Amino acid sequence: MRLILLGAPASGKGTQAAVLTEKFGAPKISTGDMLRAALAEGTELGKEADRFMKDGKLVPDSVVIGLVKERLALPDAKNGFILDGFPRTVPQADALEALLTGLGTPLDKVVQIDVSRDLLEERASLRRSDIRTGHIYHLKYSPPPLDAVLEHRADDQPETVKKRLDQYDAMTAALLPHYEKLGLLRRVDGVGSPKEITSRILAALDH
Ligand code: AP5
Repeated sequence: MRLILLGAPASGKGTQAAVLTEKFGAPKISTGDMLRAALAEGTELGKEADRFMKDGKLVPDSVVIGLVKERLALPDAKNGFILDGFPRTVPQADALEALLTGLGTPLDKVVQIDVSRDLLEERASLRRSDIRTGHIYHLKYSPPPLDAVLEHRADDQPETVKKRLDQYDAMTAALLPHYEKLGLLRRVDGVGSPKEITSRILAALDH
């Protein structure tokens, strides 16, 4: 399965990608996770990316395209992948298409998870992740166990979340007509339990 998960910040892409990666035996490739890992390692790339991420802005296309090219070249991505958070701009989508055409491995589907803006703000502000396992929790909808070691993402502060949502509307929403034209886009309602959303995605992948 070669799949892109699209959706606004906090729409549930990471939560669903973690389930789909198990189901299809294909790696989850999250540019957000890769950029945060680069920052945690103290690399120059991570420091450069953080200048944009902490302000809720998109990291330059050249940086994320380079990261994805390297990641897709690894052996575990040969038989498929679940892309989470990439592409986010039309130039990123074009670069991905050129790369996959070159590899002879076209996309199977693009799934957009739809959630209203007020819910997105609540999902982001109460999100917490376990720094040891990477598991994503929500203080209200998916509470962490008592022994979890939690972190609150710096870009989940309310003002930054608003900026990220604006960036999504300005840049990433333009990808929907792009993938619709290619006949690859499927849209699912992202409101409901995570299990319900997984069922909707799996049903959408069959059509
Ligand atoms: P990134 O890490 O990709 O963040 P994002 O797209 O903003 O998405 P999130 O991780 O915020 O949310 P999600 O949709 O994965 O939701 P989740 O499953 O966690 O990017 C961060 C930054 O990196 C960007 O702002 C940008 O600066 C940079 N960047 C990354 N990729 C880039 C690119 N390609 N180009 C340029 N810059 C890039 O769920 C959210 C919360 O909701 C959780 O608490 C979860 O438990 C809860 N939840 C999930 N599903 C449900 C449900 N069904 N019901 C109730 N709660 C739920």
